Amino acid sequence: MKSLCLILLSGACAWAQASSSSSPAAALEELDKMIADGKSPRELAQHLFDTQGCKGCHTIGQGGKLGFTKQGEEKAQGFEGCISTLKAMSVIAKMPENQRSATQRRRAQRFEEFGCTACHKITPGKVGLTEVGAKLAHLHLGCVEVEKLVASGSASQR
Ligand code: HEC
Ligand code: HEC
Repeated sequence: MKSLCLILLSGACAWAQASSSSSPAAALEELDKMIADGKSPRELAQHLFDTQGCKGCHTIGQGGKLGFTKQGEEKAQGFEGCISTLKAMSVIAKMPENQRSATQRRRAQRFEEFGCTACHKITPGKVGLTEVGAKLAHLHLGCVEVEKLVASGSASQR
């Protein structure tokens, strides 16, 4: 019986380790390492852009504005963009789940699918930030800053 528990436990640990590569804790650790290595805000922004789902919809763009991938244009149908989505989520968060309309539920689901909830935390009543999100906000590496850093860097390289 004891050995069975050990086998189950180590199985759970191995699973936890395997899935931690994409966990918020791992993302935070990686970010800390980059900061310790003296990476510039632009390098950090580029890293976030590359790893947090942004590039599924956005191209680097130029002049401080992100562009859109073909996929992004398609995916963005019915998804009214980052700004209005976050605004809508702050309304949706105030509603009990069973009172949300089908559209609102779909929106909340997409918010999760698109990876927004890695940093923006929906708690009953409001949209806050996860631990990773709070850290990035503190570093001034929110979505708008990432756009500015990534998109302006590319323009000046040309
Ligand atoms: C599912 C597709 C999708 C994903 C994923 C996505 N975006 Fe967007 N984003 C859009 C669309 C569509 C707009 C439309 C512009 C609008 O309506 O303002 C937009 C707008 C923006 C804007 C405002 C643009 C402006 O200048 O007004 C910023 C900033 C932005 N996105 C940053 C990001 C960042 C950073 C990420 C990754 C963390 C990200 N987006 C991920 C689709 C996406
Ligand atoms: C890697 C972390 C991360 C991801 C992923 C992310 N965001 Fe953000 N976003 C932030 C942070 C940090 C801020 C700044 C928040 C603050 O300062 O309070 C921010 C700010 C924003 C803002 C500007 C809010 C304002 O009032 O200025 C919008 C809009 C936004 N995010 C939408 C989205 C959407 C939509 C997605 C998913 C497609 C997304 N974000 C994914 C970290 C993230």
